[in-house]
Amino acid sequence: MQIKLSEIIQPIEKELDLFNDKFKISLKSKVGLVDLVTKYILKQKGKKIRPVLVLLSAGLSGEISDRAYRGAVLVEMLHTATLVHDDVVDAAETRRGIPSINAVWKNKVAVLIGDYLLSRGLMLAVDGNDFDFLRIVTDTVKRMSEGELLQISKTRKLDIDEETYFKIISDKTASLISTCCEIGARSSTEDINKIAALRNFGESLGIAFQIRDDILDYTGKSKIIGKPLGGDIKEKKITLPLIYSLKNVEKKEANRIIKLIKSERKKGRITEVINFVLKNGGIDYAETQADKFITVAKENLQHFPDSSYKKSLSDLVQFVVNRKN
Ligand code: IPE
Ligand code: MG
Ligand code: MG
Repeated sequence: MQIKLSEIIQPIEKELDLFNDKFKISLKSKVGLVDLVTKYILKQKGKKIRPVLVLLSAGLSGEISDRAYRGAVLVEMLHTATLVHDDVVDAAETRRGIPSINAVWKNKVAVLIGDYLLSRGLMLAVDGNDFDFLRIVTDTVKRMSEGELLQISKTRKLDIDEETYFKIISDKTASLISTCCEIGARSSTEDINKIAALRNFGESLGIAFQIRDDILDYTGKSKIIGKPLGGDIKEKKITLPLIYSLKNVEKKEANRIIKLIKSERKKGRITEVINFVLKNGGIDYAETQADKFITVAKENLQHFPDSSYKKSLSDLVQFVVNRKN
């Protein structure tokens, strides 16, 4: 059965409302254009999984304090910054079901808004004297950029193996998800075992999250995922379903598919690659891999006594692998 996000957030419903207010206030700027674009960002309906993770992790480890809110705002700002930049990098026209910032205001504005969001996020940590957050988060930002750059260099050559794939997704996605859980834990406890368990929980969850994201590029409904299907193939991004499928067919067939991905103008090539992956078990394989990380994520929750927070974190794991957007 599909678990709903609205049920998962039950134990932190009030806290999440407060987070939304704080997030909105933190985005305010005296510069009209910045205010205009951030208002547009606030209209988009993101899932807010990262702040939810911070708040649930905080609740699981102790009391949800002001520090937890600052952490939650910080990670959602960073996340938003990376999405705004990512759409420039990928020349994406839509995000969260509506035109992307770069589509509406052009790349120049999108790049600068991304910088604004990033620096605002880091400033919050400085202003709140959360230097432990700052240390963690700056390393995360570094890893996220490295992950994206490694992906670009692999994209150019179209040669990528599973090991590199996992390195890329660990850096570009899991690092931030893991950081959300670690920051949440640190906001309410000093117990290093709890902090480590939640950090590891987030890392595994993050990897499963990205595998699911990559699967959705093949099997999703563009209306629901808020962007066109096959975007990764179009960008020549080779993800787990394709890596597996290419490895499991004859060299000749693999080369033909690679050539097809390279031949930018050939009509219907995206559909052909999608069908190739579906036919060769790439989706099933990626799902099995995601499930492995899900199991590891859940094991890390065993360190904690039962509570509504624990139940929600465990449900969130299930939500992530079943999610449709
Ligand atoms: C999208 O993240 C980018 C990835 C790391 C795959 P989300 O799917 O959490 O994006 P929103 O915030 O809900 O739009
Ligand atoms: Mg991208
Ligand atoms: Mg994707």
